[in-house]
Amino acid sequence: MLAIYFSAVAGYFLITIERNKMKKSLGALAGVALIALSGQALAADELKVGKKIYDRAFGRGCGACHDIASNPQLASLIKAGELDLASFSNTVKNGKNGMPKAVAAIMAVGPVKKSGYSEDEAIAAVYKYLSK
Ligand code: HEC
Repeated sequence: MLAIYFSAVAGYFLITIERNKMKKSLGALAGVALIALSGQALAADELKVGKKIYDRAFGRGCGACHDIASNPQLASLIKAGELDLASFSNTVKNGKNGMPKAVAAIMAVGPVKKSGYSEDEAIAAVYKYLSK
């Protein structure tokens, strides 16, 4: 009789321990899933903000000039590996001949303000959008 009682108690403890382990591993799984999801959401946001910059900076967007064939074709240059982020960022910050300084115009775009991006993050976002 005592033996049955002990094994019942031991069984109860074992089940409790197993349950806690499961809870822990389920919790860990949920955590990993959340981190993966928020990483994806962040990447998607960056692309969206990048597109808004390209479409809206200076009112008519970078494309007002860059979608004209005689001006540098930013997306093609980036995809061809001929325009790295450092050089892109340098031209955007300092301007170059017919290319106006663009940081103020970029930071004035609504979705950029909302995102809280720094200047470098905003420049990286439009670069990323163009490299897609
Ligand atoms: C008023 C027209 C105009 C607007 C608006 C404009 N650009 Fe430009 N951009 C130019 C011209 C012209 C050049 C070529 C300058 C040169 O090399 O002499 C240029 C060059 C560049 C370059 C250098 C390309 C290379 O091959 O080195 C980058 C990067 C660039 N622009 C990014 C942007 C971005 C990003 C925006 C929007 C935020 C933008 N530009 C808006 C006219 C414009």
